[in-house]
Amino acid sequence: MRANSPDRPKDSATIEERVATLLARMTLVEKVGQLTLVDANDAAAPQSLGDRLRAGLVGGVLNQVNVEIVNELQRIAVEESRLGIPLMVGRDVIHGFRTIMPIPLGQAATWNRELVREGARAAALEAAGAGINWTLAPMIDISRDPRWGRIAESFGECVLLTSELAIAMVQGFQGKDLSETGSIAACAKHFAAYGAVESGRDYASTDVSETELRNVYLPPFKAAVDAGVTSLMPSFSDLNGVPASANEFLLRQVLREEWNFDGFVVSDWDSIRQLQVHGLTENDQESAFEAANAGVDMEMTGDAYSEHLAGLVEAGRISLQVIDAAVGKVLAAKFRLGLFEQGTTTVAEAGQVAGEKALATAHALALQSVVLLKNDHGALPLSIDALNSVAVIGPLADAPYEQLGTWIFDGDPGLSVTPLSAIQGLVGDRIELRYVRAMENSRSRTNDTFDDAAAIAKESDVAVLFLGEESILSGEAHSRADIDLPGDQAQLVRRIRATGTPVIGVILAGRPLTLSNVVDDLDAILFAWHPGTMGGPAIADLLFGIESPSGKLPTTFPRVVGQIPIYYSQKNTGKPPSNDTVVHIDDIDTFAPQTSLGMTAFHLDTHFTPLFPFGYGLSYAQFEYRNIRATAPEVRLGDAVTVSVELTNRGVVAGDEVVQLYVRDPVASITRPIRELKDFRRVRLEPGQTITIDFELHTDDLAFYGRDGQLTTEAGEFHVWIGGSSEAQLRTDLRLVSGN
Ligand code: GLC
Repeated sequence: MRANSPDRPKDSATIEERVATLLARMTLVEKVGQLTLVDANDAAAPQSLGDRLRAGLVGGVLNQVNVEIVNELQRIAVEESRLGIPLMVGRDVIHGFRTIMPIPLGQAATWNRELVREGARAAALEAAGAGINWTLAPMIDISRDPRWGRIAESFGECVLLTSELAIAMVQGFQGKDLSETGSIAACAKHFAAYGAVESGRDYASTDVSETELRNVYLPPFKAAVDAGVTSLMPSFSDLNGVPASANEFLLRQVLREEWNFDGFVVSDWDSIRQLQVHGLTENDQESAFEAANAGVDMEMTGDAYSEHLAGLVEAGRISLQVIDAAVGKVLAAKFRLGLFEQGTTTVAEAGQVAGEKALATAHALALQSVVLLKNDHGALPLSIDALNSVAVIGPLADAPYEQLGTWIFDGDPGLSVTPLSAIQGLVGDRIELRYVRAMENSRSRTNDTFDDAAAIAKESDVAVLFLGEESILSGEAHSRADIDLPGDQAQLVRRIRATGTPVIGVILAGRPLTLSNVVDDLDAILFAWHPGTMGGPAIADLLFGIESPSGKLPTTFPRVVGQIPIYYSQKNTGKPPSNDTVVHIDDIDTFAPQTSLGMTAFHLDTHFTPLFPFGYGLSYAQFEYRNIRATAPEVRLGDAVTVSVELTNRGVVAGDEVVQLYVRDPVASITRPIRELKDFRRVRLEPGQTITIDFELHTDDLAFYGRDGQLTTEAGEFHVWIGGSSEAQLRTDLRLVSGN
């Protein structure tokens, strides 16, 4: 730090006072510099960016993770510029840094707030060791379309689950105090409704009503803002005709006026200049004008701001107040992070990788993220004592990089423990282990080693098939129109099934897949998402019953891609389908011509229900729910009521269960979903154990945004279910009565 740094904290100076003092000393050019975020993914960054840093033209850098280079960039900015303002150092630390946790969609399947927070903390510690002070996460877009590659980065389709885990991740990254070692600023993204892209194509247009925005897509961002998230990032997409990067309704009315967000807004990569591509502006100057006036504070890796903002101010088209407000929020974040005091990261801290703790957290998250979708006649768990031989087959049994999933710039595949190696380690020489990859990768169409695979399956007591999709098929700009298992995997399943040996499927993927064409040929299915560094040990522990599966689906699994969007919190419609009205296209001949086939909201060629519903997941334990009851049949507006249930583990092994509480408002001033998750809790039960679980349901939990765009709670009847999935049948009813 420079001895005469003007920004040493005065004993009592508040953040606001320090910002005002510094702002007053800045030139317009230096102010615009603070709103400029540049890509520093270059070993020669100190040379290529040095002059701009010395001139105060850069407020933050992205994608530099070599701590010596980061330190040199900080040193130049702090010691060789006029005002010595430190840099934001950003990176997409989405689900881990060196040690990779399961993809966020897999973390959502844990339904474990504390563990997700712990995983973000471990990632922050490792990232901070590289000099990073800002992550571009969490991604909290509600996602109901598994064709969209970025569903992998999300927490799935549910407003409450996404909101709760948004809070957990923000708290994990930012800690209790942003300035403490290991805390890094978070960035909630992509604001808003990016998950509603047409046909699941990334960057496509979104058109969402205001009530749907306010009741579904905005709440997770509100939760992140209330949790103190430092920054927010608008989405690339056009929202109702106005791209998010120029959308005043989102960035000014909602974010600033309604929510009083005091952090800063950073654009997505070059998304300001893309306003012209959208067709909103005719050049970069107008794009800068639209974005700045709408409320984008900092520009990521474009030069619309650095080229045009000062000129727009001098021309009187953008007020200096707008610029000062934007710069003030960026400076406030830097003060909160303690950057003016910290200066550079010592190399010693760089060694502060979270180490064993991060690996333990990665293992725990992976263990709790895996969902047991099917387990016919107790095919699982496998018994080390009873088995003589196991055949391990498939392109994802031993793929250390692929199991990490998408968005793992800094993940170290060398740390990965694959399922094959974990199984080998677990069974040792007690079981004969045979392995055939059978396919070069998940997309392979050459099945010349299927015979080898079938041969080892035939000789073995059980075959474990590792299927799915590689990380390259998942993530940003990696949407798929067909979400079946790629390549000849279905043929491989059938080939192994034909041997007569029991077949276990373990599926690694970044999204729900349509499994209808293989589900009947697998005796059991563990869906492991992309489970991260410790995916192997977690899968091995579950296969052999060291631990019971406990994951629950954070997103609906369609039967066929044509059902999309299909999600648990759908509206009832005026003609809801029911089992007794559904026919199948091959049954039609049994009907006389023009017979009504059931005039309801269904498809002729598939059942109206999903293959696996939201919240679903089996266990090796057997959970029984009984005696749902509320402490009173009525609840007065503003009050709360306790709804409880008894849960018994009728099984012979211990296990975790995620108990879920759903509500329906059957009559309201706008139509409401047939179910909405309102609370959940993960509990562990020993065999034979019974516990009572109490949920407090407050009338605020029953509020929704009505036709007037205002939050409202309406008197009337409510249905309440508690169970182990969104298809819970145990129900009690409540009446909400108005206050007077
Ligand atoms: C990408 C993503 C965004 C990410 C940014 C920086 O295009 O949309 O989520 O944070 O660029 O990598």
